[in-house]
Amino acid sequence: MRRIVRAGALELLGASGIARPAVAGPWRSLISRTPQVAAASADGVSRRSRSTSMQGYSELARERSKTVTSFYNQSAIDVSAEKASVRLTPATMLYSGKSPDGSHILSSAKYLHKELPVRIAHRIKGFRSLPFIIGCNPTILQVHELYIRAYHMLSDFPVITDHEMEARYSKLVQQLLDDHKDVVTMLAEGFRECRKHIQDEALIRNFLDTTLTSRLGIRMLATHHLTLHEDNPDFVGIICRRLSPKKIIEKWVDFARRLCEHQYGGSPRVRINGHVAARFPFIPLPLDYILPELLKNAMRATMESHLDTPYNVPDLVVTIANNDTDFVIRISDRGGGIAHSILDKVLDYHFSTAEQSAQDPRMSNFFDTITNSGPQSGPMHGFGFGLPTSRAYAEYLGGSLALQSMQGIGTDVYLRLRHLDGKGESFRI
Ligand SMILES: Nc1ncnc2c1ncn2[C@@H]1O[C@H](COP(=O)(O)OP(=O)(O)O)[C@@H](O)[C@H]1O
Ligand SMILES: [Mg+2]
Repeated sequence: MRRIVRAGALELLGASGIARPAVAGPWRSLISRTPQVAAASADGVSRRSRSTSMQGYSELARERSKTVTSFYNQSAIDVSAEKASVRLTPATMLYSGKSPDGSHILSSAKYLHKELPVRIAHRIKGFRSLPFIIGCNPTILQVHELYIRAYHMLSDFPVITDHEMEARYSKLVQQLLDDHKDVVTMLAEGFRECRKHIQDEALIRNFLDTTLTSRLGIRMLATHHLTLHEDNPDFVGIICRRLSPKKIIEKWVDFARRLCEHQYGGSPRVRINGHVAARFPFIPLPLDYILPELLKNAMRATMESHLDTPYNVPDLVVTIANNDTDFVIRISDRGGGIAHSILDKVLDYHFSTAEQSAQDPRMSNFFDTITNSGPQSGPMHGFGFGLPTSRAYAEYLGGSLALQSMQGIGTDVYLRLRHLDGKGESFRI
């Protein structure tokens, strides 16, 4: 199975409290797979070694039985899911101050300790409310189970009173970040497997928009806490005090060009213009997801519209515009544009023209290369998640993603993001 979407660089059965006896069959089969899922998690080494000891085994068994019970006994999760999430403004995160005794780290841990179970319980409620046929998909169930497991591990953690406990808490948070790193890919695969069963596009879109943006928020908060421990003068947690849009664009241009060369034997050059000297406080994390997706799309379109001249393709032009309220990154390609017939579909989850490309005889060599390429290279396109996920992330951060296609010539993509301390109302994480 090819892992395509980068995780890096997420309601018809009705009320969440519905009794689940009818679900026992498929849910049980999921549960019986739990140990493999856990062992295959990102921190596989530590977990596998743990499972060799008796203590490790019983810990795993305890975790597992809690998950099993949670499918039926929902009260703790339901109570948490009723609570409102407390979302922070980046300004609060930036100016909450650094104290020499590390008390800012303790208060950050206490906030997470309260907040994470609430946010995760909201997500679990979302999984429970999916139409039955979707909720039973094994890949989606695996993700649902990851959330239940995370809920219990986080809500069972005792109140954090000192630095020693905070260190243990941070370790747990890091472990969960690792365990959940493939969730976007798993959801993309799971929904692709079962989307033929549902007619209601809006349902999938709402679920994925909410689950993916909530996941981004949780990961930003968790990473912010973990990086508060680091001493980097340019950063406060995940916030870079003077982010250079040009630098971060250049980083992802290099990445996308390498992929592109590997797969098409050439790549477009990229010119960056506009406010190239701009620097301001911002969070690189969402840009680290969005920029490579947009650049890969622009490069792929450029290469595929110039298959006969791969060494002589038009440049991409990236323009930066900065102002008091927000900043805009425009990526212009001359890759032929997006056809009228698909323009209103490209922002749908799972919409991709990758298969059509593969049928072009001139592409067959390239696609052999993709199939044979190692995991280090990664593909130029995937599940049709690049654009919808990027738009959801941009909107979550109070911004937008807009496309302008000049059919026959090329495409302009406008990524607009609000400043952390700009004019107008701030977004919340
Ligand atoms: N710059 C572009 N030029 C032409 N077509 C594009 C461009 N960006 C996106 N598309 C179209 O939109 C589709 C969806 O893009 P995306 O969501 O990133 O998924 P994927 O890249 O996995 O196909 C692509 O398959 C392609 O047909
Ligand atoms: Mg893409």
